[in-house]
Amino acid sequence: MKLAVFSAKSYDRTYLDEVLGQRFPQLCSIEYHAFALSEETVPLAQGSDAVCVFVNDTLDERVLGALHAGGIRAILLRCAGFNHVDLTTAETLGLFVANVPAYSPEAVAEFAVALIQTLNRKTHRAYNRVREGNFNIEGLLGTTLHGQTVGIVGVGRIGLAAARIFHGFGCRLLAYDPFAGPEFGQYGTLVDLDRLLQESNIVSLHCPLTADTRHLINEATLARMKPGAMLVNTSRGGLIESASVIQALKSRRLGGLALDVYEAEGELFYNDHSGEIIDDDILMRLMTFPNVLICGHQGFFTREALTEIAGVTLGNLSDFISGRSCPNSLVTEGHVLVRRDTAPVRL
Ligand code: NAI
Repeated sequence: MKLAVFSAKSYDRTYLDEVLGQRFPQLCSIEYHAFALSEETVPLAQGSDAVCVFVNDTLDERVLGALHAGGIRAILLRCAGFNHVDLTTAETLGLFVANVPAYSPEAVAEFAVALIQTLNRKTHRAYNRVREGNFNIEGLLGTTLHGQTVGIVGVGRIGLAAARIFHGFGCRLLAYDPFAGPEFGQYGTLVDLDRLLQESNIVSLHCPLTADTRHLINEATLARMKPGAMLVNTSRGGLIESASVIQALKSRRLGGLALDVYEAEGELFYNDHSGEIIDDDILMRLMTFPNVLICGHQGFFTREALTEIAGVTLGNLSDFISGRSCPNSLVTEGHVLVRRDTAPVRL
């Protein structure tokens, strides 16, 4: 069995090699490719039996067709989100697709809180000032989180982990999730999206990107947010219509924006473009606001999460090879994803 790993960074090699050697020594040989999977790079998978991909690899109908024609039978996502995979085509082609649903919900939730506190207390600006010998605190005024209302959109694994942290801060918690389980009840109140937007000082997005949630934050929903509220997205960039967010920042309606993910991140994130002219005018405009903080999709990036990702990814491959039922396989029926650990998701 040969596994072709796309978008491979040094840390992917380190953790996959380590877990392969320690826990799955006979499972497969691995060929690493630094490039993302796309129509152009798909020939690199020739001769392999399975591919392993990350969040910005392309897995549309054409790429899946080419992979299948080239002999690939299994697709291993080393991430939780699967919005970038055409699962309907995968189902038609009989491809096995599995993800890593919960490698470290706390890692992402903690990162969302880190972004909020950085933006709120302006520690990024303080750091730069102090390094230059400027100890003036004018302009660094923040808000005490204790007593603030936090609205969480999507109270699955990460949303609940965020709820536990905000609860510890002494925040009042609201959540919107059409498929919520009972767990959130111990931290706060489930409400509709309108009420969440109207009452929250901070809105944190933790729902998946689906046909129903694309551009959930748009001109109309931004207009319903509490004036001066902060918006945080550590989920998927497509949840936010970026052009509308720029207008809301310009009109001062939105008080702050923290992004770990961005709609058009595929062309940029995970690579060094510091010596180039970046053509994305929306991203460049966003970066000019003093109350916008952008990171390059690193919410997942902890040692614990990377170990878990490598273990579950190779475990999924092991299930596939041995014909065992895999708890992480993404099985679709018609155009709906059905799996025990999630509510049905319309694709
Ligand atoms: P999960 O599946 O445990 O939870 C998602 C929750 O969203 C579920 O409770 C679901 O009912 C809810 N939901 C579905 N449709 C909704 C809607 N229309 N409105 C509100 N809520 C809705 O997923 P998990 O593990 O909590 O991950 C959430 C997302 O975080 C992933 O889909 C992924 O896109 C993103 N993520 C980001 C990472 C990063 O590094 N920044 C790392 C890992 C995940």
